[in-house]
Amino acid sequence: MKKALIFGVTGQDGSYLSRLLLKKKYIVHGVIRRSSSINTRRIDDIYQEPFAQKKNFILHFGDVTDGTSVNDLIYKINPTEIYNLAAQSHVAVSFNIPEYTTNADALGALRILDSIVKINPKIKYYQAGSSEMFGKVQTFPQNESTPFYPRSPYAVSKVYAHWITVNYRESYNIFASNGILFNHESPLRGETFVTKKIVKALCRIKNNKQKKLYLGNIYAKRDWGHAQDYVLAMWKILQYKKPDDWVISTGKQYSVKQFINLVAKKIRLKIFWKGKGLNEKAYSEKNEPIVEIKKRYFRPAEVDNLKGSSQKAKKILKWKPSKDINDLIHDMTEYELNEISNEK
Ligand code: NAP
Ligand code: GDD
Repeated sequence: MKKALIFGVTGQDGSYLSRLLLKKKYIVHGVIRRSSSINTRRIDDIYQEPFAQKKNFILHFGDVTDGTSVNDLIYKINPTEIYNLAAQSHVAVSFNIPEYTTNADALGALRILDSIVKINPKIKYYQAGSSEMFGKVQTFPQNESTPFYPRSPYAVSKVYAHWITVNYRESYNIFASNGILFNHESPLRGETFVTKKIVKALCRIKNNKQKKLYLGNIYAKRDWGHAQDYVLAMWKILQYKKPDDWVISTGKQYSVKQFINLVAKKIRLKIFWKGKGLNEKAYSEKNEPIVEIKKRYFRPAEVDNLKGSSQKAKKILKWKPSKDINDLIHDMTEYELNEISNEK
């Protein structure tokens, strides 16, 4: 029976990946951080699933900034596969806490890799890399050959994690692979990422529970996929016959403003835009401003334009996204509207 160890199990991807692996009959060990408030909201309901029990979904305290806990867990569990999803994953926040972000996102990867080499070099390793590493993009669309040009402490840390994964693979002959995943979203997305922020706010505005949504740069373009599809890619990456680096994306790109318009259309919230720059606003049918731009949500350096090409994963791993932007918006708005109706 395969044993997986997931660092970052309480996050969006950790939750979807746990469900996928449990369905595939893995024993799943997940690492949670001590927190003064509950941080297991995304995984608590896994125990209600027919495929999960206390004995095949096992949680442990640990932290990737604490080498002793990383080493101890890998030694005790001796898993078949490790998925390193643990990160301070908010790009804007990484400018506020750059040192912590580097410790968790860059050195966290090194700690796990080093334990694998020392404890059991047969353990397979997945590194959660990011399209943010392409940053100020050097080719269009971006694929495995596109040079990195990171634009935030988060992205610089992920570039380190990428290269230390390659280095340990080449130096110690371990099965260590990088996924270079473009933005992926879901109903379980963290509340401060732009898609979730937009979907939640517009659904609440539609239901008279909120008046306004404040955003930053609405002209940034992203290649948004669905987290459910992307965790399948992570698993496929570790099942391939050899370790490698893989871009995972949809190949389609939308601006933040286009995303707002698609969500508004989906929930039948009529909006129209007026103004320019910081004065640009979206108005409701009643001519009330409901989306406004605030300088505080702009980043010191922005990533303007991401669009991936995952031809390699399509050809070799036989992976392609099953859900498009409309399916994603459907899932996210359904979830949010249901949350609102449960409040009533
Ligand atoms: P997320 O929702 O922010 O989840 C991050 C997870 O890491 C959470 O479980 C968090 O725990 C945990 N974590 C944070 N710091 C930690 C530490 N010091 N020690 C142990 N665990 C720690 O992120 P996600 O969207 O699921 O993304 C998963 C991974 O993929 C991240 O590494 C992210 O950078 C990367 N990635 C994400 C995307 C995307 O679009 N979602 C794209 C490319 C790459 P708490 O719940 O306690 O905070
Ligand atoms: N979060 C946020 N909040 N972003 C905003 C806002 C706002 O109010 N207004 C505009 N944006 C813009 C950001 O400036 C950025 O250009 C874009 O919306 C997307 O921002 P996020 O949703 O925060 O995602 P991200 O692209 O910065 O990073 C996510 O994707 C990466 C993969 O490319 C994160 O999940 C990273 O962890 C991941 O690596």
